[in-house]
Amino acid sequence: MAKQMVDQLVLQHKKVFVRADLNVPLKDGKISDDNRIVQACPTLKYLISKQARVIVLSHLGKVKHSDPIKAAEQMKKNDLAVVAVRLSELLGKKVTFVSATRGAELEQAITALKDGDVLLMQNTRYEVGEEKNSEELGTYWASLCDIYVNDAFGSCHRAHASTYSLPMACKKANKPTAIGYLVEKEIASLSRCVEAKEHPYIAVMGGSKVSDKIKVIEGLLKKADKILIGGAMAFTFMKALGKEVGKSLVELDQVDFAKRCLIEGKGRICLPLDYIMADSLSEPSREEVSKNQNVAIDMMGLDVGPKTNEFYKEELTGAKIVFWNGPLGAFENPLFANGTKSICEAIVNLKNCFSVIGGGDSASAVAQYGYSSRFSHVSTGGGASLEMIENDGHLPGIDVIEEAK
Ligand code: 3PG
Repeated sequence: MAKQMVDQLVLQHKKVFVRADLNVPLKDGKISDDNRIVQACPTLKYLISKQARVIVLSHLGKVKHSDPIKAAEQMKKNDLAVVAVRLSELLGKKVTFVSATRGAELEQAITALKDGDVLLMQNTRYEVGEEKNSEELGTYWASLCDIYVNDAFGSCHRAHASTYSLPMACKKANKPTAIGYLVEKEIASLSRCVEAKEHPYIAVMGGSKVSDKIKVIEGLLKKADKILIGGAMAFTFMKALGKEVGKSLVELDQVDFAKRCLIEGKGRICLPLDYIMADSLSEPSREEVSKNQNVAIDMMGLDVGPKTNEFYKEELTGAKIVFWNGPLGAFENPLFANGTKSICEAIVNLKNCFSVIGGGDSASAVAQYGYSSRFSHVSTGGGASLEMIENDGHLPGIDVIEEAK
């Protein structure tokens, strides 16, 4: 069943809470990539055009409330005021920023909103109850709105107060809940990777840790025809095969899992044939291509090598669906970026292929190479897109929204 969409609701004069994911990267207090704010705009512009009174909620960064000193520092760093300025520029209209998540100041500002106005409230994670999915907090926020819209795809895997208790409380109070255009687009694209009806279906998995991706690898083993592995996580698989990994990053506690995957995968898990090795990641003074799958004892594998690039390109030939998550090397350093760039080029040159990037570092790499628009879909949610595959299309923040009538 499809979820209720924002454009199925009567919005004029209504106070609409929109949970967006405005968790953008900050560098020296400035936004270094505003993509998530850009992606939140279509739903917000629609609400403005329908004369709703828009109240935007989002988290920004982490706030560790169990450590009060750290929490105070993190709250200072993760103040949403800077996001309000950029949001206002992108919407081309005033955005009132309220540096509160509850209380008289927020309530008065909401009451003062006129049709078509936009308000952004302070970081939801300033509230201790946000990550605890506090019912009290969700019920309080629900008391301030008439309608709840979730357009925060990147946060839909989190059952937090703003993504779960709040819509639950709205439903209990007979207030409509809906998804926005970004969540709709993400569901439509990622569902094709979840349903796995088109074949060959090739998954490309990279990144440093197997432990972060255990469940998604298990999920993909049921869906994909091949899984091409890269990044440092390849070395845990190599260890499982008894290869020499040198000083490469290996998760010893995941070697048994890797062995099980290789057995269950029955040849469907493809591993690098060679690597770019160096003596150090931070200050490499010596780099070489390995002759085979073994890494020199005093070196570490930091990228896949040229034979692997060719091998993976061949494996991708004819693919109808490609799901890619995680870089194939330490791409931040140009010396180790070739594997990631090469797979990126191989994917965008495929004909009649639905290509999806599951957010995170691979999305940043693709943006850096200028290829984002050549993928069928670049997800705004790293964790959320992986959990969607793991959980057969289910995420708490989406499941809680009511079905279309
Ligand atoms: C993300 O950046 O993946 C989302 O905004 C979720 O953030 P979180 O991992 O801090 O919950």
